[in-house]
Amino acid sequence: MNRPCTVVVLISGSGSNLQALIDALADGSIPAQIGAVISNRADAYGLTRAQNAGIPTAVLDHKAFEGREAFDAALIEAIDAQQPDLVVLAGFMRILTPGFVRHYAGRLLNIHPSLLPLYKGLHTHQRALEAGDREHGCSVHFVTEELDGGPLVVQAVVPVLPNDQVDSLAARVHVAEHHIYPLAVRWFAEGRLRLGAQGAELDGQPLPPCGHQVRELPAAH
Ligand code: GAR
Repeated sequence: MNRPCTVVVLISGSGSNLQALIDALADGSIPAQIGAVISNRADAYGLTRAQNAGIPTAVLDHKAFEGREAFDAALIEAIDAQQPDLVVLAGFMRILTPGFVRHYAGRLLNIHPSLLPLYKGLHTHQRALEAGDREHGCSVHFVTEELDGGPLVVQAVVPVLPNDQVDSLAARVHVAEHHIYPLAVRWFAEGRLRLGAQGAELDGQPLPPCGHQVRELPAAH
């Protein structure tokens, strides 16, 4: 890309992944800019984070629409007003219609708090603890019509420690999320990451089925 990659970020809540992206883009070393942040909840704290960073925001309350199709059509309109190269789901807690997913095929990323394909859906930390897993983590993937099922780009693996509770494990995973999501956006913005016919590709090479694996997080984290 010769111009910066325009990113639209969709959120529903705290927006700590949005903040990590804002921070990662701040020094200009990633050729990307956030064109807008859109939330389906007016009380999402991520909206304040965006406003503090001078990023335009919009709220589209899903409850104000007749159904998923109508909401997603309005969402597409709001997103496409930015002419984005990439749409980033950052804690956007809505199931998207197949039409929405197809519209953004190859330019829609999601982050999920588990080592997919383990623990699709909700309560991932609780489920990892109940299963007695010794490792847990998070995954960035291209979004396809299968919920939490698209080709994996990058996973961060964190240990599950003996006294972990949901909160302590979630906090450790969050730190890892804040590392790998900006990394994936960097790759995409640099034109290194794409969705090919066989799955995710980095630098023209297919990524392994579990994506690029990160086990050591930088010391700053
Ligand atoms: C993150 O842990 C993200 O992985 C998860 O929501 C959280 C949002 O946190 N997403 C999903 O569960 C999607 N299935 P944030 O608002 O602080 O970025």
